[in-house]
Amino acid sequence: MSERDLEQEREPDRRAGEVSRRQFLTYTLMGVGGFLAATILTPMIRAAIDPALKAGTESSMVPVADINEITTEPKSFSFKVKMDDAWVKGQDTTLMAWVYKDGDKIMAMSPICKHLGCTVNWNTNPKFPEHFFCPCHGGLYTKDGINVPGTPPKAPLDLYDYQVKDGKLYLGKLIQRT
Ligand code: FES
Repeated sequence: MSERDLEQEREPDRRAGEVSRRQFLTYTLMGVGGFLAATILTPMIRAAIDPALKAGTESSMVPVADINEITTEPKSFSFKVKMDDAWVKGQDTTLMAWVYKDGDKIMAMSPICKHLGCTVNWNTNPKFPEHFFCPCHGGLYTKDGINVPGTPPKAPLDLYDYQVKDGKLYLGKLIQRT
């Protein structure tokens, strides 16, 4: 058998071990697609589950007001906290709370409406005195933040965990009420 015959005989074996152009393109597209999916989906998944994972572990309290500034009338106080999102860690964020004295306890509530997230105000609508009113869709809450039936919000305003130390009010994480 000549050298050429031997070469021709080996050709199918060599081809069997090679990757065809079509296979090469398929593998390449699968690889690029997988990389893109991982790059895009990872931050989205993290952003979705991060707050839930952190909700129970946030324990730091921040000073918000002197205790003698707090009366039986709800007053708004703003304060800064460090927050993480999917992209930035420890970012300064300003939050707000409606705060008043109720006997020997303090009520500190989130101003974020439980309908679609607008900001509620105290005693601003003359039709509903002594209520928190949400101007976006007419949401109403009683002084203790309980949603008034028949208005859009379906849950009470969230409450801040709080602590009083050395004459100061400190607020911590938000607690959802049902
Ligand atoms: S966002 Fe407050 S009533 Fe709709």
